[in-house]
Amino acid sequence: MAELLKVSNISKRFGGIVAVNDLSFEIHEGETVGFIGPNGAGKSTVVNLLSGYLDADAGKIELGGVDITRMKPYQRTHLGLSRTYQIPRPFPELTAIFGVAASALCGKKRINQSFEDALVEATHYLEFVGLFSKRNILARDLTFYELRMLELARSLATTPRLLLIDEVMAGLNPGEASKAIQLIARAKNDFGITIFWIEHVMAVLMEAADRIIAINYGEKLAEGTPDEVVNNENVVEAYLGRGWKKYA
Ligand SMILES: Nc1ncnc2c1ncn2[C@@H]1O[C@H](COP(=O)(O)OP(=O)(O)OP(=O)(O)O)[C@@H](O)[C@H]1O
Ligand SMILES: [Mg+2]
Repeated sequence: MAELLKVSNISKRFGGIVAVNDLSFEIHEGETVGFIGPNGAGKSTVVNLLSGYLDADAGKIELGGVDITRMKPYQRTHLGLSRTYQIPRPFPELTAIFGVAASALCGKKRINQSFEDALVEATHYLEFVGLFSKRNILARDLTFYELRMLELARSLATTPRLLLIDEVMAGLNPGEASKAIQLIARAKNDFGITIFWIEHVMAVLMEAADRIIAINYGEKLAEGTPDEVVNNENVVEAYLGRGWKKYA
């Protein structure tokens, strides 16, 4: 499998806190890679560094062989990088369809796209996530589940090669969560997207991930197949705890 993302020795500190410390990993085209670790381990910070929301203090990030370390978020989006936020970040005063159309206009290969075309695409992605009937509702009036789905539709509308998911299950009930997981599987399948997925619900990654990377204190703890990682002593010690399988 070709290498899509290469992260080399990235670090990020916030004042005295070292949130990410000399972290390196790779993601290959077509993979689903789970990203786990305790609260505060640095997972969201890594996603923020990859997406360009934050600048790395050190290290290098390459997407498809292009050095994106110092690129602006929109430049990374043009190259096929997209992300969802742990806490959804819609444009609250835009209708669902306008919010997704705005993303479609920001996506790669969309430089000359008309707004009308973007609306047509937005309709397609809203249908995909099951929000077609909500297309004319303002984002601020959507439920939490609908906001999560809107977040997913907005990410997909940029036509990513690599989608960074920062927790899709949190705050959803079991029925909603299982719909969300199925949608991500379908997105991967239908659009051929590579996925980097932060999730605390291990059972989900055990099922969906080809590989899992575990971090703690911003440093890599373990990396391997889901089975290898959940049986890794350091991961059990720092994150999963003994007997986690009982609750998964
Ligand atoms: N913008 C910021 N300013 C200051 N400190 C921050 C900032 N963002 C994150 N941190 C700190 O960096 C560390 C890593 O936080 P991060 O949000 O990346 O963890 P996480 O692994 O995503 O945790 P969770 O599972 O709870 O979402 C924490 O100590 C956090 O308090
Ligand atoms: Mg987080």
